[in-house]
Amino acid sequence: MAVLWAWRLGPMADAAVTVVSELVTNAILYGSGPQAGQAEPEHVGLTLRHTRDELTVIVTDGNTSPPAHPATPGPYAESGRGLRVVDALADQWGWTSLGVAAKAVWATICL
Ligand SMILES: Nc1ncnc2c1ncn2[C@@H]1O[C@H](COP(=O)(O)OP(=O)(O)OP(=O)(O)O)[C@@H](O)[C@H]1O
Ligand SMILES: [Mg+2]
Repeated sequence: MAVLWAWRLGPMADAAVTVVSELVTNAILYGSGPQAGQAEPEHVGLTLRHTRDELTVIVTDGNTSPPAHPATPGPYAESGRGLRVVDALADQWGWTSLGVAAKAVWATICL
């Protein structure tokens, strides 16, 4: 995360750190092989792309199951909010398949 602070993104730094945290956590928890919960962190990749106008976060993992569309969690639900947070902080986000056993989940934040 140090690079996000080094890039001096100003007020967007907190949002960027949160988006990275949510997407990487999801990749570790759900992005490994056909069975959820069998994390293989070596299959998780993180790319940060900084241009003058935007920051793009790209997180790759080891399966092609798409992230669920953000649903409304019940008031007592202890999970199910991560992608809603990404939806709120990022200007765009989505995912794309990478071959037969990988995908990339990405989010862009306008600076
Ligand atoms: N990288 C991923 N690969 C496969 N499925 C995913 C991935 N990211 C998210 N999902 C699916 O989308 C669902 C919603 O993700 P989200 O981050 O919103 O909630 P959560 O991880 O269940 O809880 P929280 O993030 O609030 O701790 C997950 O429960 C999972 O089923
Ligand atoms: Mg999550």
